[in-house]
Amino acid sequence: TITPVILSGGGGTRLWPMSTPDRPKQFQALTSDHTMFQLTVLRVLDRSRFDAPIIVANAAHADLVEEQLAAIGVSDATLILEPCARNTAPAIALAALAVKQPDATLLVMPSDHVIKDTAAFDAATTALLPLVEDGWLATYGISPTGPETGYGYIKMDEAELAAAVRKVNRFVEKPDSERAQQMIAGGDHVWNGGIFLFRADIYLQILSGHAPEMLAQSKQAMNGATRLDARITPDPDAFAACPSDSIDYAVMEKADRVAVAPVHMGWSDVGSWDSLHEIGEKDSAGNVLSGAVRVHGSTGNLVYSDGARISVHGIDNLIVVANGTEILIMPRGTSQKVRDFAKD
Ligand code: GDD
Ligand code: MG
Repeated sequence: TITPVILSGGGGTRLWPMSTPDRPKQFQALTSDHTMFQLTVLRVLDRSRFDAPIIVANAAHADLVEEQLAAIGVSDATLILEPCARNTAPAIALAALAVKQPDATLLVMPSDHVIKDTAAFDAATTALLPLVEDGWLATYGISPTGPETGYGYIKMDEAELAAAVRKVNRFVEKPDSERAQQMIAGGDHVWNGGIFLFRADIYLQILSGHAPEMLAQSKQAMNGATRLDARITPDPDAFAACPSDSIDYAVMEKADRVAVAPVHMGWSDVGSWDSLHEIGEKDSAGNVLSGAVRVHGSTGNLVYSDGARISVHGIDNLIVVANGTEILIMPRGTSQKVRDFAKD
């Protein structure tokens, strides 16, 4: 069986004002009746294939995580509660150190993605498993739709390593736009889906070679952890002293035996209001609407409200979002800029 590791410690500042420090985007029902965190847990519910999940989250969200798990009837999860954020590489190290079986296979998943075709996702996992058991790191490759600079890019070897699996020739995390354009033009690149499959012991072994300080501090944090029922809180001082880095920079760019399964699974990274407009269900005028909103004579807008009633007339291609006392209005296509507002 596979142990799911669900990362839900991110801030999601580009979805302000809906995503806030108290309740970041993964804990919001932005794409369906369930939150993206719940959708992620539901994807690995089959206990004949998956063990109880390990959730790695910020300690401030412990109650929120438990509430959202209870609401979908999941009671067997282990929570690792980070006293501070050190990015994804240390978060995964904590989980790899927490599993009882040192060579357990971990399926590491972000909690802020949409995957429409779960069967395709499962098939890719099955294709990758034999290599992973043999010590390879594995990831899921998404066909690029444009020269995005917010993703990792993977150059694949031409030959298949196994059915539906290729060897990663090179991994380039978050390239600048010129480099992204070159890679897209080359045609042999896929995006890194941000989902990983590997053995816990292999991950820790790579950290010991490329990020020994991170490994040492993570171990110390887990040795000094306090445990209360299913909640594990790593030692705050030891974890605070851990270098901060993402798995992409700390591990994926450095490792040699990395496999990728190119897969069409209706994947989207729900990173911004523009991406929510892209994947959202549209009315006959191309508007994506949620909450108490009224729209007349307007096309191509995204209008979301959590409370206040929004009425719009005669506007096109705008993003309008209201949450409590905060209102955001901007043209579609510029929603990366929201970060600047979320800071204050
Ligand atoms: N527990 C924990 N602690 N989780 C974290 C932390 C942390 O300190 N930081 C981020 N996360 C969670 C986020 O909530 C998200 O679910 C996931 O880890 C990935 O972090 P992001 O910050 O969203 O990464 P990214 O989007 O910049 O890049 C990654 O995902 C892309 C695809 O969406 C990379 O893997 C890219 O290569 C990839 O293309
Ligand atoms: Mg992300």
